[in-house]
Amino acid sequence: MDHFEYRRQELYCDGVRAEALAAEYGTPLYVYCAETIRHHFRQIDEGFRAVGLPPLICYSVKANSNLAVLRVLADMGSGFDVVSGGELRRIKEIGADPEKIVYAGVGKTEAEIGLALDAGIKLFNVEAPSELPRIDRLALERGKCADVAIRLNPDVDPGTHRYITTGKRENKFGIDRDRARAVLTEAEGLRGVEVTGIHVHLGSQITDVKPYVQGVETVLEFIDSVPGLGDRIQSLDLGGGFGIHYEGSEALPAHHCAEALAPLLVDRELDLILEPGRFIVGNAGVLLTEVITMKKSGSRSFAICDAGMNDLLRPALYDSFHRITPVLEKDGPLHATDVVGPICESGDFLGLERELRTIEEGERLAVFGAGAYAFSMSSQYNTRPRAAEVLVDGDDARLVRRRETYDDLIAPEREI
Ligand code: LLP
Repeated sequence: MDHFEYRRQELYCDGVRAEALAAEYGTPLYVYCAETIRHHFRQIDEGFRAVGLPPLICYSVKANSNLAVLRVLADMGSGFDVVSGGELRRIKEIGADPEKIVYAGVGKTEAEIGLALDAGIKLFNVEAPSELPRIDRLALERGKCADVAIRLNPDVDPGTHRYITTGKRENKFGIDRDRARAVLTEAEGLRGVEVTGIHVHLGSQITDVKPYVQGVETVLEFIDSVPGLGDRIQSLDLGGGFGIHYEGSEALPAHHCAEALAPLLVDRELDLILEPGRFIVGNAGVLLTEVITMKKSGSRSFAICDAGMNDLLRPALYDSFHRITPVLEKDGPLHATDVVGPICESGDFLGLERELRTIEEGERLAVFGAGAYAFSMSSQYNTRPRAAEVLVDGDDARLVRRRETYDDLIAPEREI
């Protein structure tokens, strides 16, 4: 569900015309809808609450880390899942509650761990045996004892793209069960850390409840297999991964997952933590782009746009599908069109062989499903300024990140 719709053949984001936003702020332009973000946050919160599993939702900042988006979520009572000192800085910047921050990440540096300890975050998700004594030492140096969760690698296949599969044994994430037992024993002798949770994250864009059920079964078996562990573990963090609609209606409503997990979890006294990213923001954003040039080569038709793989990397990196439609709908015959960017790479496309009505140069297109892992993965490749971002709330639209300038691009080099 989202709040992007066509009215009188014109795309609206909630109460605002997309064409007017493109005219005012230029393209490429990311447009986010606050109400869609809130809707998805509530869907998860209410879905799990309804089955007796009230969750602490720690929105995964990496999906879309714009400060205004984070502000919308903090206002809903969301916590945050961070994976770097930079993401932590963003949460500090909006003044959100550090006690609702969980920190995952396979390669946390000492500087980053120190920042998180100083901020007073809720929980570290420990991803490697050697990370535990490191956090212990840094916590003791500060006279603190840090709560940690062990990130288990449950060896479950989430059935998604291999680049976004994280819960299989061969992935670099988490600690396998045998090693995790040794880590728990080691933790008993440490005074700067206390293991109070277990964490799993299976992967991303998961559109089936089965991997979650398997993941939870594996975690619970693990907890039961270690004497006394059940008494020490207070929280279970199931990570994120809930899929969204890219093509049509492939995403599951959040309550399906809640209902499937409830029989396994309601009798366990575990505080549930969830780290959804894509589910909350993915369908809450579109990328608006202007067609610069139309051309044909052999039998192919190309619409060369002002947005490219530096703005939206997902099609190039994962061969992922994003729906593309003109901002102003029209009639006429359909043509197979390759919607591509201006970058000097053949992998620079937004969508291939799309059935679109005749496109004119200067026309604007909307690329859907661009709220998650879109701007946050963008780059300045080809020395291109990153796009501007706008947040729409009802009838209001607000520029929440200005377009970068050429001066921004070269500033760090000029400072040398
Ligand atoms: N928690 C952890 C530990 C994670 O690694 C991730 C995502 C999440 C939560 C949030 O997952 P989500 O609910 O958004 O699926 N760039 C890729 C996705 C990478 C996901 C990385 N980790 C893409 O564009 O599909």
